[in-house]
Amino acid sequence: MNRVHIKTYGCQMNERDSEAVAAMLRARGYRIVASEDDCDVLLLNTCSVRDAAEQKAIGKAANIAHRKRRQPDFVLGILGCMAQNRGAELLDKLPDVDLIVGTQKFHQVPDYLESIRAAKAAGVPLATSIVDIAEEAGSQNTIRDHVLSQDVAAEATTDGVVDAAPQVSAFVSIQQGCNMDCAFCIVPKTRGDERSRPMDDIVAECRALAARGVREVTLLGQIVTSYGRRDYVHTDGISPFVQLLERVSAIEGIARIRFTSPHPRGFKQDLVEAYGRMPKLCGYVHLPMQSGSNRILKAMNRPYTRERYWEIVEALRAVRPDMYFSTDIIVGFPGETDEDFEHTRELFERANYDMAYVFKYSIRSGTPAAAMGDQIPDEVKETRNATLLGLLQQNSVRRNATLIGTVEEVLVEGPDKTGKKFTGRTRGNRVCIFDANPRLIGQLISLKIDRASVSTLYGEIVLAGVEA
Ligand code: SAH
Ligand code: F3S
Repeated sequence: MNRVHIKTYGCQMNERDSEAVAAMLRARGYRIVASEDDCDVLLLNTCSVRDAAEQKAIGKAANIAHRKRRQPDFVLGILGCMAQNRGAELLDKLPDVDLIVGTQKFHQVPDYLESIRAAKAAGVPLATSIVDIAEEAGSQNTIRDHVLSQDVAAEATTDGVVDAAPQVSAFVSIQQGCNMDCAFCIVPKTRGDERSRPMDDIVAECRALAARGVREVTLLGQIVTSYGRRDYVHTDGISPFVQLLERVSAIEGIARIRFTSPHPRGFKQDLVEAYGRMPKLCGYVHLPMQSGSNRILKAMNRPYTRERYWEIVEALRAVRPDMYFSTDIIVGFPGETDEDFEHTRELFERANYDMAYVFKYSIRSGTPAAAMGDQIPDEVKETRNATLLGLLQQNSVRRNATLIGTVEEVLVEGPDKTGKKFTGRTRGNRVCIFDANPRLIGQLISLKIDRASVSTLYGEIVLAGVEA
């Protein structure tokens, strides 16, 4: 009766939140299981960024709700962004949902589950579902417990993959919420005001992770470049975010640092220069462009121009010539003409992205863009989307081809899906598959790349444990 499955939709922050909920539930004696068919509690941690993501979770919940007829004690919960966005209104469509918990209340999930289960066990189920989407001061500090897979060897991780290997890479939340009010975006509503965690707490968490064998941390926030802007001062022109990077960089055992997402507006020279002096900072930058048209950027309320965006890319390439770039683009924002799109296409091609997330604009009610005239037909969005994805695929093939024959530093993460080979990533975040042995998990190795597909590199170890 204590088997929980958590299904996560959306971004890395959601994955991180699911891990934290899993850790809290484990501490209360629940088992996190890989199969949604064999669980007693199913929690859907949802995404609202696009309508399709919401519809997927609603469809799932509707399907699963039938299960209550044959499993009366079964508990179904909806957590995260869609819970926050839609609240109790979800119950109109999904009356069988027991629990709706918003983005500032993840830490309450264990207590709420306890009440629901106790009531069911006593034969007097709660008269109404529990809905908690209130704001909570300090909630950015409640997400911190980590589930490390060595603690639960051979058990399932939250996304359903059975993973017995020690955890090598971890997400660390540094900030919650966002105050940017991009015209298309629901996140300020679902995630609330921008709030930063104290720097000392973050550094302590990274240290604890390093002590448990984690080698790579990814610092997470909606707009990490403004991390700590209300709580810390710039020192010698160095922003609080770069100060944080410096402190994490000083932690012994941490070999690689990544972060997502910066905002072009906050990507100043101090951060560019950090790439020159911090070797642990991986040469991979996710820099959301959204559009390459200055007119559309303005309508989106994104306070930078295509010229400024390009300046950042060039400055970073000057410091690290082999820098990898990824981006987020929205095609079909209201009013986007062929000419606007051509500007996006041109900048996209010039930036030569190694990875990109291209989204077709999706109306989010309550956001300024939802009320704008001149919404773009689906077919046009589809064509623009396909154009950019075509370019991306060419770039990826080209970049991977240049890697064949070279030796890349790879952090060994664990067995691959087949269980026969091992997997790890380069500093440029390319996935590699190779022969190795479990002793090398968590080590940096030198891998000679001998083959590549669009998204994966294959190679042979030439030097194991390069740092040793
Ligand atoms: N601050 C976060 C953004 C979170 S939303 C970050 O920079 O990663 C993730 C991406 O979803 C955005 O960058 C944007 O490209 C896309 N997105 C947001 N709202 C959207 C909408 N209404 N339609 C389509 N894509 C959207
Ligand atoms: Fe959304 Fe813009 Fe913030 S994309 S998360 S409002 S920076």
